[in-house]
Amino acid sequence: MDFFPTMQLGLIMKNILVTGGAGFIGSNFVRYLLKAEQNAHVYNLDALTYAGSLENLRNLPDDSRHTFIEGNICNLELIQTLLHNYPIDSIVHFAAESHVDRSILGPAPFMQTNVLGTFTLLEAARQVWGRERSDKRFHHVSTDEVFGSLSAHEAAFTESTPYDPRSPYSASKASSDHLVRAYFHTYQLPVTITNCSNNYGAYQFPEKLIPLMIMNALQGKPLPVYGDGLQIRDWLYVEDHCEAIYLALTKGTRGETYNVGGNNQLTNIELVKKICEILDELQPMQKPYASFIEHVTDRPGHDSRYAMDSTKIKNELGWTPSYTIERGLRETVEWHLSNSAWVKSGLARAGYDDWLDTNYQRRKEEL
Ligand code: NAD
Ligand code: TYD
Repeated sequence: MDFFPTMQLGLIMKNILVTGGAGFIGSNFVRYLLKAEQNAHVYNLDALTYAGSLENLRNLPDDSRHTFIEGNICNLELIQTLLHNYPIDSIVHFAAESHVDRSILGPAPFMQTNVLGTFTLLEAARQVWGRERSDKRFHHVSTDEVFGSLSAHEAAFTESTPYDPRSPYSASKASSDHLVRAYFHTYQLPVTITNCSNNYGAYQFPEKLIPLMIMNALQGKPLPVYGDGLQIRDWLYVEDHCEAIYLALTKGTRGETYNVGGNNQLTNIELVKKICEILDELQPMQKPYASFIEHVTDRPGHDSRYAMDSTKIKNELGWTPSYTIERGLRETVEWHLSNSAWVKSGLARAGYDDWLDTNYQRRKEEL
């Protein structure tokens, strides 16, 4: 499947408000959209929290069709002004606090941004778009974590699996999903939702497993695996995810939810060892990178397995992931090796060292 397919579109988008477009997936999606929609203009609203950076938006395919607005999704007046001043026909909502470990140590910002921020966006769209909404779309990006945790042999999550969130992060995302559906049923706001599995790829902040392991390894630092490392995630390459969002946005049915999985289930320890093997080949050290692996205190309430059944989006929208974990991981490691300026800026971001200290050194005392 082509990364930027030419396709018969159901919805013609010209002016798209992307929230959280300076973050990991959002910035990848901005790139995707500027290439896929040659006439589209992207309005990118991002508060530039610790997780967002303008470094993620360098060298866009066509910068003249990209407008960056620094601002908060909790600011109703700002969103109303944007929807009044620009002819926005679609909103693609990524902005969120996204890291489970941070939600355990400090849940308040998660409730503020993920719950109240989503509510604010929905309310602004309802008010400003009024009743003429046939050419509009509000697409909400959510997570597999809302479905809870699976045991090793349970069937993968489907769109009808009951919600069972177990961390402050997943509970806040579940709340946001409920609000989005409520606005569809109550006010007929034209919404779609995608719930995806763990993403990886270029521009991911090194607090998440894969970039953290790559960057620690390159600095000769320990590779901290939580607990026994036998937890399973279903890894989705970010470019595959962008394509799925684009399809749901342009061809998805209003009010519907689509599960998006990578079809790549691995234990954390298997995954870290694969990263080490790729690094051993591409940037060998005196000893194997795997010798830096350390098992550390487990995450409280650690979900043991996520897995997504993507049959619906395959059957209805023709999407399947094109990346195997081997190809995606290799490209991700190569990207880090050839983008040393970005890697340096990621490691230098304000508060990053404090975060490493809080999460990895003082975790036990702070809980
Ligand atoms: P990220 O943490 O890399 O980026 C989040 C972005 O949102 C940042 O640029 C940040 O500055 C911005 N932001 C945060 N609070 C804001 C606010 N109040 N107002 C405006 N902007 C704000 O996150 P990501 O990994 O790119 O995730 C994007 C979305 O995808 C999130 O909604 C997340 O829940 C969802 N998701 C992510 C994954 C994953 O593996 N990364 C998996 C499933 C779902
Ligand atoms: P993460 O990237 O934080 O995503 P999520 O918690 O949303 O799945 O973590 C992925 C898995 O890796 C998860 O099971 C926790 C584990 N993990 C570690 O073992 N060590 C680490 O340093 C981190 C950040 C995560």
